[in-house]
Amino acid sequence: MLKILIATNNPHKAAELAQILPRLTAGGRAIEYLSLADFPAVPAPEETGLTLEENALIKAKAGRAATGLISIADDTGLLVDALDGAPGVHSGRYAYPDRTDYPANNEKLLKELKNISLEKRTARFKTVAAIILPDGQTATTEGIVEGKIAAEYSGTNGFGYDPLFIVTSLGKTMAQLTMEEKNKISHRALAFARMAEIIKKL
Ligand code: IMP
Repeated sequence: MLKILIATNNPHKAAELAQILPRLTAGGRAIEYLSLADFPAVPAPEETGLTLEENALIKAKAGRAATGLISIADDTGLLVDALDGAPGVHSGRYAYPDRTDYPANNEKLLKELKNISLEKRTARFKTVAAIILPDGQTATTEGIVEGKIAAEYSGTNGFGYDPLFIVTSLGKTMAQLTMEEKNKISHRALAFARMAEIIKKL
């Protein structure tokens, strides 16, 4: 049985990936997906990278170093055109430099976009997924979803910026989607669909 570590400390991401990955890789070699909840002593690495790709690799490498398992991780950013791509790689610590506070991040985003009309509030979620292969080689894939930043909150599902992110193709916020629906179209689902092709070849 192939064992793969999902190297995330974020319970929302872990729940999404626990649904996404087994489906995408089912039918091939039997795979057991473990999470960092199975290794509580593993410390979270500092996300010091300057890009989503660097941070995804930092997290996957830390998981690999701590467990010796094939490790996968993701780093995600919200890129808002009117803010020149911010908060981008700083999406987690947008409001405060030392911690992640979802409501404060959303309030800061609304404030920064206060005078920007809806048609100019275009944005995208971008996920970079990283894997450390059995021989230590690395690979990354990405997934992008296009949308707009709403002027008010809608929906209570999901996490982070989901209540403000209107998915262009659906006309609803990410937070108005069930996890099932989000996992069909999300940036994370797209990045890991591409990652599944790599996993299937292991
Ligand atoms: P991370 O560095 O990949 O953990 O993600 C940075 C931040 O992006 C998180 O703290 C969330 O605020 C936000 N984020 C990541 N993924 C999602 C998502 O699927 N929906 C909404 N916000 C997200």
